[in-house]
Amino acid sequence: MCEEKKQGRVKCQVIYNKKIAEDIYELVFSNNKMATEAKPGQFVNVYCNGEMLLPRPISICEADEDKGTIKLVYAIAGAGTKLFSKIQDGDFVEVLGPLGNGYTLADADSSILVGGGVGTPPLLELAKRIKGKKTIYLGFRSEAYLVEEFKAYGEVYVATDDGSYGHHGNVVELMEKNIAKAEQIYSCGPNPMLKAVQKFASDNDIELQISLEERMGCGFGACVGCVCKIKADNEAGYTYKKVCKDGPVFPGSEVLL
Ligand SMILES: Cc1cc2nc3c(=O)[nH]c(=O)nc-3n(C[C@H](O)[C@H](O)[C@H](O)COP(=O)(O)OP(=O)(O)OC[C@H]3O[C@@H](n4cnc5c(N)ncnc54)[C@H](O)[C@@H]3O)c2cc1C
Ligand code: FES
Repeated sequence: MCEEKKQGRVKCQVIYNKKIAEDIYELVFSNNKMATEAKPGQFVNVYCNGEMLLPRPISICEADEDKGTIKLVYAIAGAGTKLFSKIQDGDFVEVLGPLGNGYTLADADSSILVGGGVGTPPLLELAKRIKGKKTIYLGFRSEAYLVEEFKAYGEVYVATDDGSYGHHGNVVELMEKNIAKAEQIYSCGPNPMLKAVQKFASDNDIELQISLEERMGCGFGACVGCVCKIKADNEAGYTYKKVCKDGPVFPGSEVLL
């Protein structure tokens, strides 16, 4: 199914690429090695079949070691992801990965997972792998997706900005309303949401890991196109780290958002 390519990229056969919500697609491709190696929170670089120079980073939503498949869930954001939406079942795509560090699976009895929009997909593989009680908060602008899949692994609460599903409002409000308590929080989503989660974790003295979705160039540490600010014991009070190589997951208390 997969033919090795130069620079670690591999050509992988797409099992299916289907629309699951407005402008949201689920793409599953075959690659035994990636499916075995992938850790929750890691991502792959998907190349636009020669039509664009730079690849697009997409989080690993699920890795099925038995079937040798990787599932991605992506939103159409611009030209690259629009091209992805045209991929047909059986086509080949060039993929590099798994990339980045992924979440550290904490030894916690209870965890909260908070995802917003396309920050929700990487939490699915995480929900599958962590032990203990899991409370999962998912936030969307309008149409919700992956909700049934998450229900297999924990108690799920959904918020939508337009009130079309679940709580009308933002997902952090919903979490606060539930007086959510846990030993560990894992989060991924837009920066304003991460900032609110960071405050919640700090106020409640809960360990936090956050995954950043900075814009990227190369995706493997060569271009410095993806830096974020991390607290440091120096004059400036911070240093820069590369989201693609040092992250995308960082200790929540260390990131300056
Ligand atoms: C580690 C990582 C994991 C990601 N995982 C997913 C995922 O699982 N599913 C998914 O749908 N998307 C994910 N993204 C975002 C995805 O990579 C971008 O949406 C995509 O690269 C946009 O490419 P494009 O050519 O379609 O749009 P472009 O034409 O490149 O951009 C379209 C618009 O989207 C904005 N944009 C582009 N990249 C980002 C970004 N990283 N964050 C915020 N805004 C951006 C641009 O500023 C522009 O306004 C991830 C990004 C990173 C860094
Ligand atoms: S995207 Fe090139 S260094 Fe991170």
